[in-house]
Amino acid sequence: MQHYLQFKDFSADEYAYLFARAALIKKKFKAYEKHHTLVDRTLAMIFEKASTRTRVSFEAGMYQLGGSVVHLTTGDSQLGRAEPIEDSAKVISRMTDLVMIRTFEQTKIERFAANSRVPVINGLTNEFHPCQVLADIFTYIEHRGSIAGKTVAWVGDGNNMANTWLQAADLLGFTVHVSTPSGYEVNQAVAGLRSSDSYRVFTDPLQACQGAHLVTTDVWTSMGYEAENEARRAAFASWCVDRTMMAAAAPDALFMHCLPAHRGEEVEAEVIDGPQSVVWDEAENRMHAQKALMEYLLLGRVA
Ligand code: CP
Ligand code: NVA
Repeated sequence: MQHYLQFKDFSADEYAYLFARAALIKKKFKAYEKHHTLVDRTLAMIFEKASTRTRVSFEAGMYQLGGSVVHLTTGDSQLGRAEPIEDSAKVISRMTDLVMIRTFEQTKIERFAANSRVPVINGLTNEFHPCQVLADIFTYIEHRGSIAGKTVAWVGDGNNMANTWLQAADLLGFTVHVSTPSGYEVNQAVAGLRSSDSYRVFTDPLQACQGAHLVTTDVWTSMGYEAENEARRAAFASWCVDRTMMAAAAPDALFMHCLPAHRGEEVEAEVIDGPQSVVWDEAENRMHAQKALMEYLLLGRVA
């Protein structure tokens, strides 16, 4: 049994399979062809933080595979009344086939997985967001082909998305140019990297974008860090992806954002709503990529 708790849980070869499978699943979806590979399987979705995309993509995706879902939040389950995570894992995994969790500390999802009888998927933690980068790279491949050897500019917080991009670069052979405000840097140990070979740090976000094939960013304040909002607004003021940054990138550079976005903060409206932005494909691809992921965790490689 395999879990998907961080990007490096899969090999490059497994990603090659998943990207090809997601493309097939997407093609069938667009042609209104049934793809019922998970009939009678149940996905439990546990949300300890808000969500639009993750909820809709997993829920719609599981139904499209012929399965069903159970949706739990902290507020409407015993999770919010301090039932130990280990006990919750033992119970939920006896009744369902697969569990997706969005929570705070990575250690929490690791404790759940250690006590689960079924595969566990990380739907976002403070440290990682592997399902998002899975969809992002699938989107890059759809638009531009292989990401190996390319440069991704990360402009903004050294957060869960940044850590996940760094793991992906390490595994899939591309480079990340990281630019964060001082005090919000990525931490190699937290990101779980073996070395710093696959990323370069820039103090100036414009420099980070120079020649990049993909420019990407995220909110200044992630969920769970709202108390830091005011300090972050001041610190991040120059980390707004604007038209000048996109002009410094490669001529055919793409722009991505995991969403939700704040126009006028981390990205200029003209960029996110402009011709280089692929954010809507990126959001849609969460569903196709995660259908491939759920199928893989339950059935392995399907011929
Ligand atoms: N990108 C993403 O995970 O969005 P949600 O918070 O809406 O799920
Ligand atoms: N970094 C953001 C991503 C939201 C999808 C957060 O954790 O809130």
